Order: sequence, then structure tokens, then C-alpha cells
Amino acid sequence: MIATIAQKKPGRLKTVLEHASGDKRFKILEVHMKKHQFRQDALIEVLHKAQELFGYLEDDLLLFVSYKLKLPPSRVYGVATFYHFFTLKPKGEHTCVVCMGTACYVKGAEKVISAVQENLKIKPGETTADNKVSLLIARCIGACGIAPAVVYDGTVTPRATPESAVEQIKKWVAK
Ligand code: FES
Repeated sequence: MIATIAQKKPGRLKTVLEHASGDKRFKILEVHMKKHQFRQDALIEVLHKAQELFGYLEDDLLLFVSYKLKLPPSRVYGVATFYHFFTLKPKGEHTCVVCMGTACYVKGAEKVISAVQENLKIKPGETTADNKVSLLIARCIGACGIAPAVVYDGTVTPRATPESAVEQIKKWVAK
């Protein structure tokens, strides 16, 4: 699928790279790839890191990895779909990714995730029965200074509390 997107929409990569330039998580991922000298055989390690940072692997992220490692998008997508430990974009209309890295954990991320779980009656990695919200976990998204951080539909939000997270979820569910 991602290969088709890349072929049909050559401008897509430009958009992805512009988006990436404003998101610290892409920078961290790039540093990780650099550590592996952008080696193509480091693809699985790179995808692991990408999932840790973003909570799941979405098309734009796979396209970014394929561009940086100079691999065909179809190869990156193939690997991401082959291994069960990779999660592709969840089916929820909205995504809530709670960072459970050390800094966020220490600052109360566990309480945030418990409140969301209780409110939605789902566990991390699951989507509500009405497909409205998917809940995921990330491990250090590079925003430790504003811990605990939660990413709502791709937007990193600082200093989350159980109350603010539940409020956001309720807004989505009410729509
Ligand atoms: S531990 Fe959450 S941003 Fe670093």
C-alpha cells in the first residue's frame, strides 16, 4: 500500500519530510539511523525505534524510513507487516499515545494511562468497539522536559494529567 502511495503521489514524500522537520521524534529516529550508518540491514532495529517513539508505524513514518535508508517503500512496508511485534496504524479514528518512558513514568504517566483505560474500557494496543479511539504506548518520545507527554492524533501535549487526558477522550467520543 505504501509503495502505491509513494508512486501515485510523488509530492507525498516532500510533505512527509516537511512534517518531519517540525517533529522532534523524527530527529531522534534519524540520529538512531545515523548510529547504524543508515545501513539497510538495520531496518528492523530502526523500525523498533520508530515504534518506540511513535507508538505505531504509520505510512508517513515508513516512507521516511524508506527514504533515509534508501530502500523501496514496498520493502519497508513488507517488513513492518511481516513481524507481529510491529503495529501498523491502528484502526481508531483517533489515537492517544501515552509515553511510558522513565521521565514520563516518574511524573505520573501510569496514572494517566490508567484513567484513559478505565474511561475507554480498553488496554494499550486496543481500539474501542466503535472504532473511535485507539490507545497506545510509546517509550520516550524525546519530550522528557514536558513529562508526562501524551500524543493526541499526532500532536505532542505537555504535562498530561489523568483529568486532561479523560477530557480529551470525552471530546472525541462525544463527536
Ligand atoms: S520519557 Fe516521555 S518523553 Fe522522554
